[in-house]
Amino acid sequence: MPKEVIDLRSDTVTLPTQEMLEAVKNAKLGDDVYEEDPTVKQLQDLAAEKMGKEAALLVTSGTQANLISLMSNCNRGEQVFLEAQSHIYWYEVGGVSTVAGLFPWTIQANGSIFNPEQVEAAIRPSNIHYPSPSLVCVENTHNRYGGLIVTPNQLENLNKVAKKHGLKLYMDGARIFNAAVALKIDIKELTKHVDNLMFCLSKGLSCPIGSIIVGSQEFIDKARKNRKLLGGGMRQAGIIAAPGIVAMESMIDRLAEDHENAQYLAMKLSKIKHVTIDLSKVQTNIVTFFLDPSINSDLFVAKLKENNILGLTQSKNTIRLVTHRGIEHRQIERVSSVICEILERN
Ligand SMILES: Cc1ncc(COP(=O)(O)O)c(C=O)c1O
Repeated sequence: MPKEVIDLRSDTVTLPTQEMLEAVKNAKLGDDVYEEDPTVKQLQDLAAEKMGKEAALLVTSGTQANLISLMSNCNRGEQVFLEAQSHIYWYEVGGVSTVAGLFPWTIQANGSIFNPEQVEAAIRPSNIHYPSPSLVCVENTHNRYGGLIVTPNQLENLNKVAKKHGLKLYMDGARIFNAAVALKIDIKELTKHVDNLMFCLSKGLSCPIGSIIVGSQEFIDKARKNRKLLGGGMRQAGIIAAPGIVAMESMIDRLAEDHENAQYLAMKLSKIKHVTIDLSKVQTNIVTFFLDPSINSDLFVAKLKENNILGLTQSKNTIRLVTHRGIEHRQIERVSSVICEILERN
C-alpha cells in the first residue's frame, strides 16, 4: 500500500469539508456584479459584522485582496510603507508598483514586527523631492516570520503613529483568525486599530477559494470598482461564498488544534541535532526552523519528499512547515522521526 503523503507546505492545501460541498449545492445564487447574489451578501454581512467594520467584499484571492486594498486606500504615485519581509513585497509579483502605481518604502524589522519608532523614523517630512506617503501595511500573522502575531497593543501603537502623520493603517490579515484564536481574544480586538483589512477563507479555514476585504462603506465601494477593473467581478459567486459561511461559522475555533500540532512539532524539532528553532516564535500554525549551514536545505526538502513529507525551503537553511486541518498528532510524530533520521545520518 502506498504511504500517505503528509503535506506541510502550506495551509492552502486544505480541501473543502463535506458540509462546504453541501452548502455549494444548496446555495441560493444571483448575479453578484449586479449585487444580486444572496449568498454573497450573507457572507459579506457576516464578515463585516464579525470584524466590526461597516462593509465587506468577497474577492478571489489574498493577492487580489491586497492589490485592491492598496488601490482603494491610495492614489497612484503615493508612497506605501511595507515591512521588508511582508507577503505584499515578496510574493505578489510587484503588483504594488506595476498595477497599483505605488512607491513601496520598506522597513526592515529583523525577525519581529516593525515597531512604531521604526515607522515614525521612516516617515520623511513633506518635501518636493519625495512622493507623498499615504498608507502603512502590517501583516498579521506574519508569514515569513513563521506565523508571528501582531498584538492589539502593537497595532494600537502603529495606528497612533500612522494617524499622527495622516496615514491609514491596512492589515494583510490572511491568517488573522489564527492570531485571535492563539491570543484567545475576540477578533475585533485586532481589527479595531486598523482602517481596513483582508483575510483569507482559503487557508486554515479550508475553503477552496476566496478572501474578504473589510472596512468602511466608502472604502468597500471603491474596492468593488477596483475589483471590477481587475476583472474580478464575479457572477454566481454564491458557490464561493457558501463554503465561506460554513468556514466563518464553524472552522475558526478548530485552528487551535493546528497551533497545538505546530507547538508539538517545534518541541520535537528542538531536540534534533543540526536544527535551530526559537520556540517562542512558534505562535500559530507555521513552524520555521534553521539547519546548520553545512546542510543543503534543498537537498533536505528533497529527502523529506522521498519520505512522502512535503515542506518548503524559505531561504538558505530555513525550512517552513505548516500545520492545518487534516494533519494529526500521529503524522507529526512521523515527520519528526523522519527529520531526526535524515539529519542524524548527515
Ligand atoms: C500573509 C499573506 N498574505 C497574502 C497571501 C496571498 O494569498 P493568495 O495565495 O490567496 O493569493 C498569502 C498567501 O500565502 C499570505 O501568506
